[in-house]
Amino acid sequence: MEELISKLKKAKTVTVISGAGISAESGIPTFRDAGGYWKNHSAETLATPQAFAKNPKLVTEWYEMRMQKCFESSPNEGHFVIAEFEKFFPNFLLITQNVDGLHTRAGSKKMIELHGNIYRFRCTKCKQKIQFEKPTTENPIKCKSCKSIMRPDILWFGENYDLLVLGEAYMFAKRSDIIFVIGTSGMVTVPMQIAMEGINAGAYSIEINPEKSTIHKSISVSFQEKSGIVLPKILNILKSK
Ligand code: APR
Repeated sequence: MEELISKLKKAKTVTVISGAGISAESGIPTFRDAGGYWKNHSAETLATPQAFAKNPKLVTEWYEMRMQKCFESSPNEGHFVIAEFEKFFPNFLLITQNVDGLHTRAGSKKMIELHGNIYRFRCTKCKQKIQFEKPTTENPIKCKSCKSIMRPDILWFGENYDLLVLGEAYMFAKRSDIIFVIGTSGMVTVPMQIAMEGINAGAYSIEINPEKSTIHKSISVSFQEKSGIVLPKILNILKSK
């Protein structure tokens, strides 16, 4: 614990990589825990360009159901603590895999949403985007400019990451003193590669997850506990410096 306290007190540049687990205590089911299915469909079968091409109404309905669920949920302690981190570390970046918008509602600003945002749709033709302030049941959603059908502005399985955003994430992780890996199974490899970029460059790493992620063996210190319980304790260490 002494090493953790010392590292936290000295850290100047910190990266947090978060996954669905941080929103579990807000009541949003994770992808790979038991509740990850909807109408007998899994994320892997609905969150794809092929699924949308085949049945845009079903995929849009699934995202609008999730948008409603996210809108009804609230950020939990873990989200608020990560927003507070921005005050304690001069250089800070949150890289989230989550699309639920809860980090933003908790006050996080220095953030990259790697996989998009549940409230945003984009035109399949002219790429115009729309950000919904509250859930919609419009289905299909038509582009206001060219009347074409709009799709969720989400990174789907089989699609490519935005290389500019990815480059920024890798470079930031590489120069970080600490890498937090919070609430992610590591089943999606790119976010874990970003974490490993920092770890291999010498960053001290902290994992918070009741289970072990795919990069558990590379982690400096692991808290096999809920993020809503561990993060407030880490914030107390920062406040005591
Ligand atoms: N606190 C911390 N971690 C938790 C909690 C909690 N309260 N509850 C569950 N977890 C952990 C689980 O143990 C699991 O390891 O959160 C992790 C969630 O893993 P996944 O469901 O695989 O979610 P994630 O890693 O974010 O998935 C990555 O996959 O489906 C795609 O694009 C989607 O962004 C998503 C990506």
